[in-house]
Amino acid sequence: MQVKFASIEMPQSGAAVFFVEKDKPFSGLAAEADKLTSGALSKARDVSRFTGASGQTVEVVAPAGMKVDRVVLVGLGDVDSLSEAKWVELGGTVYASLANSGSKEATVLVEINAADTASIAEGALLRSYRFDKYRTKEPESKKPTLQSIAVATDDGAAASAFDTREKVAGGVFHTRDLISEPANELNPESYADRIKELEALGVELEVLGEEKMTELGMHSLLGVGLGSAYESQLVIMRWNGADDKDAQPISFVGKGVTFDTGGISLKPGANMEQMKWDMGGSGIVVGLMKALAARKAKVNVVASVGLVENMPSGTAQRPGDVVKSMSGQTIEILNTDAEGRLVLADAMWYTQDRFNPKFMIDLATLTGAIITSLGHEHAGLFSDSDELAAQLARAGADTGDKVWRMPLHENYDKLIDCAVADMKNIGGPAAGSITAAQFLKRFTNDVPWVHLDVAGTVWSEKDLPLSEKGGTGFGVRLLDRFVADNYED
Ligand code: BES
Ligand code: MN
Ligand code: ZN
Repeated sequence: MQVKFASIEMPQSGAAVFFVEKDKPFSGLAAEADKLTSGALSKARDVSRFTGASGQTVEVVAPAGMKVDRVVLVGLGDVDSLSEAKWVELGGTVYASLANSGSKEATVLVEINAADTASIAEGALLRSYRFDKYRTKEPESKKPTLQSIAVATDDGAAASAFDTREKVAGGVFHTRDLISEPANELNPESYADRIKELEALGVELEVLGEEKMTELGMHSLLGVGLGSAYESQLVIMRWNGADDKDAQPISFVGKGVTFDTGGISLKPGANMEQMKWDMGGSGIVVGLMKALAARKAKVNVVASVGLVENMPSGTAQRPGDVVKSMSGQTIEILNTDAEGRLVLADAMWYTQDRFNPKFMIDLATLTGAIITSLGHEHAGLFSDSDELAAQLARAGADTGDKVWRMPLHENYDKLIDCAVADMKNIGGPAAGSITAAQFLKRFTNDVPWVHLDVAGTVWSEKDLPLSEKGGTGFGVRLLDRFVADNYED
């Protein structure tokens, strides 16, 4: 879908969208349109319980007196209390209300500042994403009709603010593409190949295969992929956008389990198809790198993603196996389904050991327990740095990719102590997300660190304000903003 900006005047074709404040009479062009239609808009408002509450919509089709296909009124609520995240959502609401309406183009009329105008445009763009590459028989009548949205503004700053948001949205779409891909298409090898696309944007890439990882002693990561027909991969992406190309980088690490059957500790069959998106953490990292490179962020970043497939087979690792990680620490595998932490343990150790980053943020669909704790609204945030946690909370509130801090404590850490090895890969039945985080903490080598458990937020079973059912792209806008606000020259 195309998003553009237009001058503030009465639309003569397509759909006209007017924003209406709660419990206020029509003003500006909306009042004029009401006059042109001999009061059809006020009548529609009055007979449909439309108050202008935030997100409410009402549609008037082919209104006599105007040349447009339809008028849509969208409620703003109390305009003075609208956050950035809310403006973006309203943009999503506009797109969703018109996508299949029959109109091909829409003009949005709302006279607000440049940043909020850009937010509306961003929300509309984000909501327009569809993953339809495998649908060969969708009837034309089911496909969206809306092809372009023009947001009316007389402030040129809106277009330049949107330029950045559009590039970041490109990263979000890339993440959604990866997450939506089925595991027969996206395996550790084909995934590594796809990441190579980022080279066109100036991202430097390195791919470590099993031979190299064996040399490095990464048996924690390698153990997870033993049952797979595909070779495990560690892909390292570097973007050196800072003025000083040698300045200490910041770093991100992603869990990229392209399919998680649970391994020999096999998962139950129901909903197992969802485990195609167990590479969601890595998908965020790749989309983030694309966004940062596309907007030429002035920061040095190193990102690594551990790509493996967790399968049961005659060569798969077993419960009771003991593996030695690159850090030298040994791990008793008590459940082969707690594999994400095993992948991250080596990916994180490698990242801090080789690149000496300022801090390390890992992202992973790590535990079902985080969904029990936080549902699908917030990602779980675990950190030993109050500063990083606060910066991420701020970026989360601003973008709408929300995070909620969870505790770490030495008493939780004890729950993964083990009589056979240095640690075991599961705690008890209690505090599953926290013991998983404590496990990761043992592989940070005391580099300031944040773990984001995104198991509840990378995929949605229902339509959301900014995405259809499917991959949400959660995390890309969060981390892009976190970087922009705190770590660029
Ligand atoms: N990939 C799963 C976590 C997950 C579950 C993500 C549901 C998204 C939705 C992870 O590898 C896993 O299986 N975790 C186990 C850990 C347990 C064995 C300690 C879990 O959450 O059950
Ligand atoms: Mn698992
Ligand atoms: Zn998993």
